[in-house]
Amino acid sequence: MQVIFNPSFPSRLAHMLLAAFITTGLVVGAASAFHVLKDRARGIKTEGWSESRISLVMAIGLVAVLAPMQLVVGHWSGEVTHKYQPSKTAALEGYWETRADQPLHLFGIPDREAQKNHFQVSIPGVGNWIQNLPRDEVITGLDAYPREDQPPPFIPFFGFRIMVGLGLLMIGLGAWGAWLIWRRRVFDSPWFLRFCVAMGPSGFIAVLAGWMVTEVGRQPWVVYGVLRTRDAVSPVITSQVATSLLAYVVVYSIVFTAGALFILRLMAEGPVAARTEPAPRGQRPPGTPMAKAPGDTSPDDDDTPDGHDGLRGAAS
Ligand code: HEM
Repeated sequence: MQVIFNPSFPSRLAHMLLAAFITTGLVVGAASAFHVLKDRARGIKTEGWSESRISLVMAIGLVAVLAPMQLVVGHWSGEVTHKYQPSKTAALEGYWETRADQPLHLFGIPDREAQKNHFQVSIPGVGNWIQNLPRDEVITGLDAYPREDQPPPFIPFFGFRIMVGLGLLMIGLGAWGAWLIWRRRVFDSPWFLRFCVAMGPSGFIAVLAGWMVTEVGRQPWVVYGVLRTRDAVSPVITSQVATSLLAYVVVYSIVFTAGALFILRLMAEGPVAARTEPAPRGQRPPGTPMAKAPGDTSPDDDDTPDGHDGLRGAAS
């Protein structure tokens, strides 16, 4: 229970749940936008609400609300990380030096050997502010840890930038889409629709990037500051590990390929409303339209001159 309900449990759960909903919304939005674009390219004029249009608006609505929430929850998650796993924060921010008034590194190539970032592009004086800390508060850098206790910084550093960068694009997508819906121009904006299609896989990529930030960033520890990954490894011989790894690779390749093909096929088909065939006469449930009310003496549907059951007349 202590392992599961550790102090990072609430922020992680909220961050992960939002990630799952946003990822789903982006896939639905991409499939819907693809079909709206396809209809436009074929010259099909849709005046009302097709299934693709409805699901596109629902997906944009979801992303417009949840993507900004993800930024807030991600920030909360970052605060918890900084408190309980400060070496991970130092790695993902690219801080080598322990100091007050940290900069914000937008880009750089962290080099563990040289203990610095190459080609660094930074904004000075913003690092503390972005972490909600006073400018004069000292933030621990990787230099506060012996080398064997430092996480490998390359993957957390870039994983974090990919995740946050995509998160910001998602916020942009939601805001742009909401504005277009408000202006009633969302189905006539090919550039926005293409953006939705391009963002289809972005949720999966952000989830994987975030996961790598978390798992690589906590190295070399299994239990932070207590148990090293190296000491937690079970005494299993290499061939056994290799066999089980191979089994995983084979099984997951089959499952992922089948799943990906299935999702792509669903996306290519597009959203289709449930079609219900009318039940044969006499088997229609009570309340079915076209049934005669008790006491209704008007001619029966079948009495129409052309012998049809009246549906054609009703439609016209
Ligand atoms: C928008 C700005 C974002 C910020 C500031 C942010 C912040 C963070 C931080 C600090 C972590 C590391 C937590 C830790 O290991 O201690 C993390 C992990 C993660 N993030 Fe984000 N994130 C953002 C956007 C996103 C988006 C858009 C997604 C996916 C749609 C996402 C998915 C994840 C996942 C799956 C993890 C791993 C969670 C875990 O294993 O506990 N994040 N994020």
